[in-house]
Amino acid sequence: MEIDYGLALADALGQGKVTQKALEELSPKLIEAQDWLNAKRESKELGFMDLPFQDPSPILQMAQEIRREFNHFVLIGIGGSSLGAQVLFNALRDQSSGKEPFFHILDNVDPVKTTEILEGIELQNTCFCVVSKSGATAESMANFLVALGNLERVVGRDRARRQVVFITDPEKGDLRDLAKEEGYRALEVPPNVGGRFSVLSSVGLFPAAVLGIDVERLLKGASQALTNCEKREVTSNAAWIIAALHYLHHTLEAKSISVMMTYHEKLAVFADWYRQLWAESLGKKGKGQTPVKAVGTVDQHSQIQLYSEGPKDKIITFLRVKNFSRDCRIPSLYPQKPALAYLGGHTLGELINTELAGTASALAKRGVPSITITLPSVNERYLGALFMVYEVATALMGRLYGINPFDQPGVEEGKRLTYGLMGREGFQEKGKEAHEIWTKRKRGTLTVGLED
Ligand code: PA5
Repeated sequence: MEIDYGLALADALGQGKVTQKALEELSPKLIEAQDWLNAKRESKELGFMDLPFQDPSPILQMAQEIRREFNHFVLIGIGGSSLGAQVLFNALRDQSSGKEPFFHILDNVDPVKTTEILEGIELQNTCFCVVSKSGATAESMANFLVALGNLERVVGRDRARRQVVFITDPEKGDLRDLAKEEGYRALEVPPNVGGRFSVLSSVGLFPAAVLGIDVERLLKGASQALTNCEKREVTSNAAWIIAALHYLHHTLEAKSISVMMTYHEKLAVFADWYRQLWAESLGKKGKGQTPVKAVGTVDQHSQIQLYSEGPKDKIITFLRVKNFSRDCRIPSLYPQKPALAYLGGHTLGELINTELAGTASALAKRGVPSITITLPSVNERYLGALFMVYEVATALMGRLYGINPFDQPGVEEGKRLTYGLMGREGFQEKGKEAHEIWTKRKRGTLTVGLED
């Protein structure tokens, strides 16, 4: 894996304060941030960096059982409890293979989506995996109840309980209680690992193992990345360079937007995972960068005009692969037509990566900084490494900003107001408060009447 950052530095851009010297001068702060992170790890307050060294046998064993028993697998979860598994599925499952178990995801309470998924599967052959560390998130609990209700109608109460697996806190929460009371199968989310840092725990590993993804190689990649992240030199440490460039561009150059633009569809969902990690970890106390997802080359025809000539408030990370698992040679069918002729003999893989080079160069000419991360190919090891590098970089960014990257008070408040509006016991006051605010929207209303 290579991280090319020359196009994020002032001498290539012909302007700006982010220089090699500025990177070096940030070193004492990075060292302080790394020591802070290591101390949290050593005291066991923080567990995500220990995940690569776990024994995955209980996860693998349960995944084997599920693979034997079912041919559909529905993941119920949201945010950090679903995005990691989605990345792994999108990146590592050959979706044209028609292999079982078929994977479905209920990560929203959209009634049409939930209904369509539940109606499209054979319920008696389906495992529902409910992932919720808290065992309380409204969306996941609602989808669990809807799924269980449907399941009970088809297979009966007792059998339904054999078709559900919980991934939740080892001690706390209603899901853990239900597992104890009613014998649901359950795996644990380590209490010291937060949702968006949990992809390498049972949260991501169990769905991955059910889908036939090699989780040991994922963990191996993550552990190798951690070794790199121990280097105390900004130009050798992947997490440090990512954190440093984003921090410097934000604080010295007002780049308040961080775009991740992936040049391989298999990596597109990684940008969603990154978006959540960067936003929910760092958006606090007026700090943080707004993460944006873009997909190359599609968004060259949608976003690049803005990135190039709009406000100069962005730093872009291009994520590409060197070797595609499959490629298409472009035939030379019309040598007499200039718009088609030059393409003949090349491959789509060459074209997509060349378009990235052209786009990054054009942006650099306009002074827009970019980092290019190249994975030799898409596999478990590189994804494991990428997850770990970004988790460490995010934690370091939090320390550089002076905020806590591991909480999410803004999300929690929205959850509490929703509980109140939905009538959850103990949240009546929150319900009143939310109702009062929400009704204010009617103080300005415009109606567009459409005739049939
Ligand atoms: O990163 C986080 O902590 C959040 O995105 C959570 O993962 C998300 O809110 C779901 O929480 P839970 O797993 O408790 O259902």
